[in-house]
Amino acid sequence: MLRKAIEEIGAPIARHQIEYHAFLDQSKMLGYSREKGIPLVAYAPLAQGRAASDPVLQGIGLKHGVTAAQVALAWLLEQDGVAVIPKAQRLESQKSNLDALAVPLDDDDGQTIAVLPKNHRFVTPPFAPQWDT
Ligand SMILES: NC(=O)c1ccc[n+]([C@@H]2O[C@H](COP(=O)([O-])OP(=O)(O)OC[C@H]3O[C@@H](n4cnc5c(N)ncnc54)[C@H](OP(=O)(O)O)[C@@H]3O)[C@@H](O)[C@H]2O)c1
Repeated sequence: MLRKAIEEIGAPIARHQIEYHAFLDQSKMLGYSREKGIPLVAYAPLAQGRAASDPVLQGIGLKHGVTAAQVALAWLLEQDGVAVIPKAQRLESQKSNLDALAVPLDDDDGQTIAVLPKNHRFVTPPFAPQWDT
């Protein structure tokens, strides 16, 4: 879809918003977005809230004194060309998500998150296009 949009629209594309979180591999789309200079906006960056209760992310959070949700957001934020817009109704969540901007993850954390299963796509509406094209 992105490739088609680039070819057919012929105008600059400001950003590309797709589901992206620690449980879904988007390396192909991220590589293509970077190649084209289009920022990727992570849709459902907390895997619709699931990240907050993930034991692996909780373990990393414990090490740094932060929450699993903050770890999930920090992991996305440290990637070149990735922007993050979590949905949060609770004020506490909103503040916590802003603070994720200052969460320092280390190489071990990155490796731990990298080996989490990445085949979980949670947003699959009936009108969904063919993904990853
Ligand atoms: N393009 C548009 O027009 C448009 C419009 C609306 C939404 N969106 C996007 O749609 C997506 C919708 O979000 P989503 O709900 O599917 O997925 P999400 O952002 O991955 O997760 C949202 C869920 O995580 C919870 N949460 C947020 N911050 C948290 C924290 N710090 N600790 C624990 N839980 C936390 C929220 O709870 P609470 O809400 O109770 O805090 C909510 O249940 C977002 O990425 C948003 O940017 C786009």
